[in-house]
Amino acid sequence: MQNKDIYILAIESSCDDTSAAVLKNDKVLSNIVANQEVHQKYGGVVPELASRAHQQNIVPVVQQALEQAKIKKEQLSAIAFTRGPGLMGSLLVGTSFATTFAMSLDIPLIDVNHMQAHILAHFIKTDAPNDKPKFPFISLTISGGHTQLVQVNSYFDFKILGETTDDAAGEAFDKSAKILGLPYPGGPLIDKYAKNGNPEAYPFPIPKTKNELDFSFSGFKTAVLRFIQKNTKENPDFIKENLEDICASIQNGIVTILLKKIEKAVNLTGINQIAIAGGVSANSEIRKQLINTSKIKNWQVFIPPFEYTTDNAAMIGIVGYLKFINDFKANENNHLATARLKVEEN
Ligand code: KG4
Ligand code: ZN
Repeated sequence: MQNKDIYILAIESSCDDTSAAVLKNDKVLSNIVANQEVHQKYGGVVPELASRAHQQNIVPVVQQALEQAKIKKEQLSAIAFTRGPGLMGSLLVGTSFATTFAMSLDIPLIDVNHMQAHILAHFIKTDAPNDKPKFPFISLTISGGHTQLVQVNSYFDFKILGETTDDAAGEAFDKSAKILGLPYPGGPLIDKYAKNGNPEAYPFPIPKTKNELDFSFSGFKTAVLRFIQKNTKENPDFIKENLEDICASIQNGIVTILLKKIEKAVNLTGINQIAIAGGVSANSEIRKQLINTSKIKNWQVFIPPFEYTTDNAAMIGIVGYLKFINDFKANENNHLATARLKVEEN
């Protein structure tokens, strides 16, 4: 029997990025992301503004994804969309669009769990040889909304080993950046200013958690706030004069917490294949420290290409493709947007 190519159109709209991608099997033909700049001045995502911007963006973004991929809608095998977790109003825009488009083309609709997609982005075809983790592996998923250590047993079998009890790692970056007066999202800016700073200039405390694989970042954020308040009282120009050292120290503090948890997870599970996923995995310091530690500890680490770390539809597409070829059957409830969805739920 001749193998037929599968073409998936994928749609992601869970937070503040509207994205559409076209995949031919596990290869990405296009991956268009429209960022919503409207949130910058508010210091965080405003849900009502996000859903309105998704409505404006979704049709042109899908059109651009199809055009760039040089694929006609009639060639599509299925449509994959983010079912959750995320902001309800944002999810509804992608869900409604995907449902209607799939119905009009009379092709299958495949729901995708956003957290699984961040992890399975590692299975997108790239030119690098041997770059795919083998099961079971540990994923540290670090984004603006989530921080989890997950044991991945197969494409569709996930087990949470630990997660944050308060803020996510991305929030620790973004809230610290806000304290410094930087615009949202501040994570990439802290990364940028940290490049020329001294990571040991200002040590921040490592918070304790009841479960040793859980995370806590709210105490870290409070420590940054108190530190800045104290120093700007003494010198109003403290931030301006020391921005690079402050950013490098904050970044080093967050990365140290993350690496310590990975080490604990490796010791507890005996699994030494580590993948990182989610927006914060774009951070240059975590990439650097993870590679260095892996050499010392004999870990095998998997770091996703930059374009598949922050929210994007290509990662939704790869899960759509894997579900399609594995004949994954969803009941109709799975086609409803769901604001809360655990990584274990298919
Ligand atoms: O996965 P993502 O795009 O969206 C969510 O699902 O939350 O992650 C966004 C988060 C934001 O908190 C952003 O500041 C952070 O990822 N981020 C970074 C970097 N790039 C994005 N944090 C630190 N360093 C970076 N280079
Ligand atoms: Zn995400």
